[in-house]
Amino acid sequence: MLERIKETTAFIESNVKARPEIGIILGTGLGGLVKDIKNQEVLEYSSIPNFPVSTVEGHSGRLIFGDLGGKKVVAMQGRFHYYEGYDMKQVTFPVRVMKFLGVKNLFVSNASGGVNPDFEIGDLMIINDHINLMPNPLLGPNIKELGTRFPDMSQAYDRDLMALAKKVAQANNIRTVEGCYVGTTGPTFETPKEYQYFRIIGGDTVGMSTVPEVIVARHMGLPVFAISIITDLGVPGKIVEVTHEEVQKIGQQAEKKMTLIMEEMLKQL
Ligand code: HPA
Repeated sequence: MLERIKETTAFIESNVKARPEIGIILGTGLGGLVKDIKNQEVLEYSSIPNFPVSTVEGHSGRLIFGDLGGKKVVAMQGRFHYYEGYDMKQVTFPVRVMKFLGVKNLFVSNASGGVNPDFEIGDLMIINDHINLMPNPLLGPNIKELGTRFPDMSQAYDRDLMALAKKVAQANNIRTVEGCYVGTTGPTFETPKEYQYFRIIGGDTVGMSTVPEVIVARHMGLPVFAISIITDLGVPGKIVEVTHEEVQKIGQQAEKKMTLIMEEMLKQL
């Protein structure tokens, strides 16, 4: 794996001039942030050695380098999900490569279903913790060049980045909530009892991504900021049929606010 990470990193470095300091992973319906990236250099996933190719609708597969909020960034437009059939090493491979490219912080976005009864559709939730209900991406022999065998997860989401996000949101009159993201494999959305279960075990939202990437980032000591758009509610009395199209639509509506928060954070980093 180490060899493949180095091979991919070398390929990117010889094909792209930019040297990013921030990595960004964009979730369902949230790829529009890339429009704000200036001086773009773009690599299709299909052209990058060892990169899996994204298949899901609403996720185009491109790595975009450029300037955002005055910082050099690399953004993944489209991520890899476990439910697509990739193994966890493939799902998290791009995060490894970002670290090897020199990224100092990782910003992640996603769409999720709210199970906290105080949440509303369209809310932005700053993720402060997670519960991993997917296979752990670090299963198997540990590669010590990447990180320790038993990584600490007591503060998976960086406190300073969370505080900065709240400050920026307040200054721009954007309502944010904060909470714990439950990561499941999907691809089914939840039954009412599953939503209830996720609430009982301590979750505020549930979704099908992010946790593998965050675990791998923390393994490598990379600080993480993650934000989730609540696209539907798994709250008793408010549960309606969920579709991928609806998730994408709500994501796009909330996207401007999320983009503003991320861009302002980058300016102030
Ligand atoms: N459940 C799981 N994943 C999701 C949901 C949901 O309700 N909404 C968006 N992604």
